[in-house]
Amino acid sequence: MSTVKKCIFCNHENLAILFQDAKYLLFKDIHPATEHHYLVIPREHYPNVKYLDSSHLPMSSSSTGPSSSSSTTTTSLSKHLPNCIIIGARKCGTRALLEFLDTHPRIRKVTDELHFFDDDARYALGLGWYRQQMPPSVEGADVVIEKTPAYFVTEAVPERLHAMNASIKIILIVRDPVTRLISDYAQLASNRAKKDRLVPSFEEEILLPSGKINANYKGIRISLYAIYFARWIKLFPKKQLHVVDGDQFVYDPLPELAKIETFLGLPHEISRENFVYNTTKGFYCIRGVDDKIGERCLNKNKGRKHPEIHPLVIRKLRKFYRPYNLYFYKLAGRRFAWPEY
Ligand code: A3P
Repeated sequence: MSTVKKCIFCNHENLAILFQDAKYLLFKDIHPATEHHYLVIPREHYPNVKYLDSSHLPMSSSSTGPSSSSSTTTTSLSKHLPNCIIIGARKCGTRALLEFLDTHPRIRKVTDELHFFDDDARYALGLGWYRQQMPPSVEGADVVIEKTPAYFVTEAVPERLHAMNASIKIILIVRDPVTRLISDYAQLASNRAKKDRLVPSFEEEILLPSGKINANYKGIRISLYAIYFARWIKLFPKKQLHVVDGDQFVYDPLPELAKIETFLGLPHEISRENFVYNTTKGFYCIRGVDDKIGERCLNKNKGRKHPEIHPLVIRKLRKFYRPYNLYFYKLAGRRFAWPEY
């Protein structure tokens, strides 16, 4: 019978291999909990579960794994509808939030923005299609998160989401509405410049010829958080809606992530060790899990340089947003440190 000379996990020597094939090894647990307590491990080493994708699904199926007669416990991975959604707001740190949450071993993220609930054509594809886009997860143990920032502001979304799952957990990240607007403009300007299109100035975009704020401008409207938030709290109880302070999150992500772990009913597994402040990027990045994968920062579309805006225009914007911010604080039941002047 072949043996493992020294197990790299438990340091036990000469472990007897009871069964092996091209993919798996089976041996007796070193501290058996019962007379027949065996472990089946793949030959290929995965540093952690995050390295698995849908191509590994057969590993969880006894029919394609080693002999199904062995008394092993397998955790079944399959596709489930999300039990948490990051609804927005756009340019408030939604990508960083999703990626940072994904460092939790029990969280499975959907990488792409699926636009399932806000895009009528996508919605018409049905929940079966939506489920297929999900990563494999363990039902009842994992939290599957999808994020699409357009959900927050699109009228039809709260009802559609409610119809799918009335007890779903919802995360909204917000930041100072004026900074959000400038970030939105910086993105628009950068996209236009890439296509060699004319880039109007910030003032041209957000002010009417009269000098008043153009309240119909999309970028201005998205920062009116109270208007959209009111729709969400009409349908979902507040205990299902968690609001993240995006300004705090950039400055120090961990306390905001710890609150989310509590909100999701997950053990606190995300720690300072998961992140490192990158002085070149000026933001926190995800620390590599081993020597193979170094630090992982968000791409250069996140953390763009913002244009300088004249202080009088900033003042005008702050005055414009003030009543909406106060209303948002009231609805959210907490205040944010957004400058008033
Ligand atoms: P700026 O690019 O204006 O700085 P979203 O992912 O929702 O589009 O939000 C983008 C914003 O996320 C960025 O806006 C940036 O300020 C913020 N952000 C928060 N944490 C970040 C991080 N660790 N790395 C990069 N951007 C981060």
